[in-house]
Amino acid sequence: MANVAVIGAQWGDEGKGKVVDWLASRAEIVVRFQGGHNAGHTLVVGDQTYKLSLLPSGVVRGKLGIIGNGVVLDPEALLSEIAKVGAQGLKVTPENLRIAENVPLILPLHPALDQAREAARGGDKIGTTGRGIGPAYEDKVGRRSIRLCDLAEPETLSAKLDELLLHHNALFRGLGAPQFQKQPLLDRLLELAPLLLPFSEAVWERLDAARASGKRVLFEGAQAVMLDVDHGTYPYVTSSNTVAGNAAAGAGVGPDTIGMVLGIAKAYSTRVGSGPFPSELHDDVGKGLGDRGFEYGTVTGRRRRCGWFDACMVRQAVKVGGINGIALTKLDVLDGMAELKINTGYRINGELVKRLPAAMKAQAAAEPVYEVLEGWSGSTRGARSYADLPAQAVKYVRRIEELVEAPVVLLSTSPERDDTITLRDPFAG
Ligand code: GDP
Ligand code: IMO
Ligand code: MG
Repeated sequence: MANVAVIGAQWGDEGKGKVVDWLASRAEIVVRFQGGHNAGHTLVVGDQTYKLSLLPSGVVRGKLGIIGNGVVLDPEALLSEIAKVGAQGLKVTPENLRIAENVPLILPLHPALDQAREAARGGDKIGTTGRGIGPAYEDKVGRRSIRLCDLAEPETLSAKLDELLLHHNALFRGLGAPQFQKQPLLDRLLELAPLLLPFSEAVWERLDAARASGKRVLFEGAQAVMLDVDHGTYPYVTSSNTVAGNAAAGAGVGPDTIGMVLGIAKAYSTRVGSGPFPSELHDDVGKGLGDRGFEYGTVTGRRRRCGWFDACMVRQAVKVGGINGIALTKLDVLDGMAELKINTGYRINGELVKRLPAAMKAQAAAEPVYEVLEGWSGSTRGARSYADLPAQAVKYVRRIEELVEAPVVLLSTSPERDDTITLRDPFAG
């Protein structure tokens, strides 16, 4: 049986949380390997809705959750999320959550810098979540991060804070923003240490043991390929690699540990934040998708931009993301639409191209080239078998498979955990 990695194939919010929760019933361990509390994963289980940002979605199924070294961890956000799900009856303890000892921490100066930079960009904002994700990753590659393991060594922590503040206070001075003082930061981190260190371990050893004993591991991606710092619509991206290739580095396992790569795609497109979106709809059709799909950012609360399914872009995500199979979600949102469009390529300055180019002006100039399909009048909502789908809905799915050059292996037909159609078992490889 293969391990499975789940990644977003568009611009995020494809329904990764639901799919991971559903697949987690057949895994023993669920690992987050990148991103941070910029993610918002929604799980609907009966009358309970869980909105998770940092906790691996598998904890809701009683599975062991691991936060890998590739994540950037805000300790305050983690503790408040643990308290929030605790109030919903879900206990998170060092028994069911382990955190990589080498995970970099997000400190209060990171969201402050994120927000100050966005303000300084004026009208040309990235539209970040303002949670300090970008600045925290900058510090990681800049070799300045405070990591979870540093909380066990107060002297190391104190010296590293001096270095970090030297760098950041210079930036804050330049931006005309308030400076950070060392002592309150140090005091708070030392207060947090006994709360966080019980979760800390060399998770690579646990994952190695899991591999040796044949336990199934599910790697849970956040964000999506078009938000990948290398392969996405740069600079309107997040600050980590979201492709499946990063699941290995971000968890501390070899690339052969990642078996099947499942790309999650919505049956249409959405995006939060700024940046190119060639198949975006600015009319009532887009508004209808947003209303029926309830497209509001889980983290930001902002209305998501909506558009037609972009098969050209998802095909690109399949190739660079290493996707072997697609889970197509929110098919039900298309119910009752008379006609549907799928983007098959781009016209850029009069030329037809079959990929989204990297250069910013070319991306902004990309015009969609649509194929028009007939919609369906019946309902797909809550369907649990392929036989229950209207013939036109099956045609739509088949056409997507052809265009993105990957098989659709799962179909999701409502937010509910069990309203899912399996066409092929992802754990079968
Ligand atoms: P994620 O970030 O990829 O985990 O996705 P989000 O949770 O941010 O957004 C997906 C939204 O769509 C959530 O509100 C889900 O409950 C909902 N959802 C997931 N799958 C389906 C589906 O098949 N149909 C409908 N109507 N909603 C879905
Ligand atoms: P999930 O895991 C959708 C977007 C932000 C912004 C850009 C950079 O729920 O799919 P950041 O705060 O990461 O520096 O913001 O990335 N973004 C997301 N959009 N879903 C997400 O996560 C996102 N995480 C970040 O809106 O445009
Ligand atoms: Mg989300």
